[in-house]
Amino acid sequence: MIMVYVSRFRVFLVWVLCFGVALASWRFMVLGVEASMEFVAYHAIERRLAFFAHITLAPVALMLMPFQFWTGLRARRPQVHRWIGRAYGVSILLAGVGGLLMAAGTTAGPVAAWGFGALAALWLGSTGYGIWLALQGRIAEHQRWMIRSAALTFAAVTLRLYLPLLFATLGEETGYTLVSWLCWVPNVAVAEWYLRRPLRRSVALAA
Ligand code: HEM
Repeated sequence: MIMVYVSRFRVFLVWVLCFGVALASWRFMVLGVEASMEFVAYHAIERRLAFFAHITLAPVALMLMPFQFWTGLRARRPQVHRWIGRAYGVSILLAGVGGLLMAAGTTAGPVAAWGFGALAALWLGSTGYGIWLALQGRIAEHQRWMIRSAALTFAAVTLRLYLPLLFATLGEETGYTLVSWLCWVPNVAVAEWYLRRPLRRSVALAA
């Protein structure tokens, strides 16, 4: 019984973190870019379209992601799952290309540029491939690739969880460089562990 509560709490936490980070990211709509995200405001001048595509649509993907893992919704309303999937895919296409251009132009140094750049490329690749598999009707593989995509989308949350700790312990420069990799490499490792874990005995027997 306790495991059911732990699992429900984990799901609740994912919803709260995804919605919390996404809504906080839209603070620029109320406060303006200069006042609310001064440290990246130069992107708004140097690559305006990429920047606004990213900070407007990446939060959309983050908010939509938990809906896609809601088993009841998938079973009862497959059409809704497909429409949310399309919106998730389009948001990532535009926000991911924006993120890639921002990574290439970041002033945070080459290590951070490669960290964010690799994240953007994998985000675009895993999501695009996952959606292509769904269109081919290869649903089991689609599910596996969308778990990878979700782990990368969740980097927006892990980045914001780790950053205060890294700033406090390593300083802003080193902390920011490190977080460009740390925000997503462990997420991918957890996703791979989850995808490769041995099947539970009951499931294996049923199969
Ligand atoms: C998963 C792939 C992602 C990549 C590759 C990526 C890349 C980037 C890059 C390169 C920057 C600028 C950092 C700098 O130059 O110092 C940035 C900023 C930002 N990103 Fe992303 N990002 C991703 C996901 C997301 C998601 C899912 C959100 C949703 C909340 C998001 C929201 C933002 C916001 C709001 C900023 C402005 C700075 C801030 O307020 O933290 N990003 N991103």
